[in-house]
Amino acid sequence: MGGWVTVTTPSAAAAPATTSATASASPADSALVRAARGLDVPHTPVWFMRQAGRSLPEYRAVREGVGMLESCRRPDLVTEITLQPVRRHGVDAAIFFSDIVVPLAAVGIDLDIVPGVGPVVADPVRTRADLDRLRDLAPEDVPDIAESVRLLVAELGPTPLIGFAGAPFTLASYLVEGGPSKNHEHTKALMHGDPQLWHDLCARLARISGAFLRVQGENGASALQLFDSWAGFLSRADYVRHVQEHSAAALAMVADLDVPRIHFGVGTGELLTLMGEAGADVVGVDYRVSLTDALERTGGRWPLQGNLDPALLFAPWEALERRVREIVEEGRAAPGHVFNLGHGVLPDTDPDVLTRVVELVHEVSARQVSAR
Ligand code: CP3
Repeated sequence: MGGWVTVTTPSAAAAPATTSATASASPADSALVRAARGLDVPHTPVWFMRQAGRSLPEYRAVREGVGMLESCRRPDLVTEITLQPVRRHGVDAAIFFSDIVVPLAAVGIDLDIVPGVGPVVADPVRTRADLDRLRDLAPEDVPDIAESVRLLVAELGPTPLIGFAGAPFTLASYLVEGGPSKNHEHTKALMHGDPQLWHDLCARLARISGAFLRVQGENGASALQLFDSWAGFLSRADYVRHVQEHSAAALAMVADLDVPRIHFGVGTGELLTLMGEAGADVVGVDYRVSLTDALERTGGRWPLQGNLDPALLFAPWEALERRVREIVEEGRAAPGHVFNLGHGVLPDTDPDVLTRVVELVHEVSARQVSAR
């Protein structure tokens, strides 16, 4: 693979990914994919979880009067919304506009995404008979997803597209609770009360998630992220006994695609190594654990992604700038670093602040790497 040409000036480093000076402009050789593989990069790549969404007026405009689930199944909207933050912020990657519950709806689970609430499931899954309603996902269930990915890859040029899916535990939580949950009590009751049913449920969810990731990877996504947003509610022992193998199974379904796999959860400081060992190429870190601590905990075995506290985007610029510089600095010690937030962009975030953060990350991380 060719090396990077020298990128020194802040203006060049801050240019949109599609126009930055690269030796070979392909997504597979982008800063994001190279960092995810632990290779040298011209600058630290940056993207934001939930970069597409309510923080952008242009998002609110195109979503006007269209339900969330419907908008996820319309290639015209999916492509437009996915591209919006790339155009506006010059981020180093697009994240596919969808939701973790889209594949569940695609296999016939009756659910809705309620504004301000999240996914709500009409009939929670708690018994063997309930599980029988959950069938496997076939590519034929989501031809629109394949089409949207292909359209986006053509549109994005050298900018990589990140595909994603929810991990079995987080999906199970929505299915078992019937919606968002503070304590995940029904989920944990099932996990401990009927471990066999729990394992069968998670095994099926792993196949659904793996299949959803595969559709995105096979149609051209350059990286794939598994979101286990609520895994931080588990002890290490429960993660090992009841969850890890199922996330590993989902990740294994795309292991042959030569696409880096990112594994992220919220409040997972105690689980970082276990999440890496589930089969990730990059471990996502939320803002509760510093990258320095995360690096120590994971023994430098994986590139890291993270980890600016999304609430800091509301702080005065001087305080925010200091923190961004610290994170870039901490990230230099990792085998690779993808700058991101510690969780998703909050809806009231000023989008101009996000753009400034992208410029700052590019500027302070620009490195001189001679072409090989
Ligand atoms: O920009 C991106 O990151 C891509 C799009 C994306 C969405 N959901 C769009 C969305 C991604 C990656 C997700 C994943 C997702 N969905 C997760 C994992 C990531 C995380 O945040 O932990 C989870 C837990 C969900 C479930 C979900 N869907 C929640 C909690 C919500 C928010 C509910 C609300 O209104 O506050 C959703 C809805 C959702 N998914 C929105 C977006 C842009 C908001 C819907 C809207 O704009 O009307």
